[in-house]
Amino acid sequence: SLTKSDKASIANIWSKIAPQAEALGTETLERLFLTFPQTKTYFPHFDLSPGSDQLKAHGSKVMGAIGDAVKNIDNVGSALSKLSELHAYNLRVDPVNFKLLCHNVLVTLAGHLGKDFTPEIHASLDKFLALLSTVLTSKYR
Ligand code: HEM
Repeated sequence: SLTKSDKASIANIWSKIAPQAEALGTETLERLFLTFPQTKTYFPHFDLSPGSDQLKAHGSKVMGAIGDAVKNIDNVGSALSKLSELHAYNLRVDPVNFKLLCHNVLVTLAGHLGKDFTPEIHASLDKFLALLSTVLTSKYR
């Protein structure tokens, strides 16, 4: 589980991420779809060409949702319960895809945060994203 120090580090780094949420979210999705093309099957209705309006809008939504979780870090389950239902019941996203998305979030952040992306921040964010994924896939069971 997240320590006090993890939570403080995540809140702090997110203040640097939030202003660039759209760009970082869009790059995350571009990397996801290029690196793990099977993830594209959930988005047949999207224009997935790099930088498309739909990618930007969706990238922004995904990073926004992660930001909501950061704000409600002690209560991620209830903060994201609607989103959890959407992914489980409506979208039926296979849980393996969450690991792929989280990986691409980390790669994107690593590329943009420079020296702020310390090994400690990396570890804290990895734990946090895993927690988020557990919440978003919990309704499958
Ligand atoms: C929709 C967040 C993981 C596929 C959404 C929305 C958000 C979101 C905020 C928009 C909900 C709305 O419009 O009310 C997240 C977060 C994730 C995650 C925070 C993990 C950290 C995934 C994964 C996939 C996926 C792994 C599949 C590879 C979709 C699809 C939609 C969606 C297909 C609907 C897109 C549309 O038609 O507009 N997600 N998501 N999500 N998500 Fe996720």
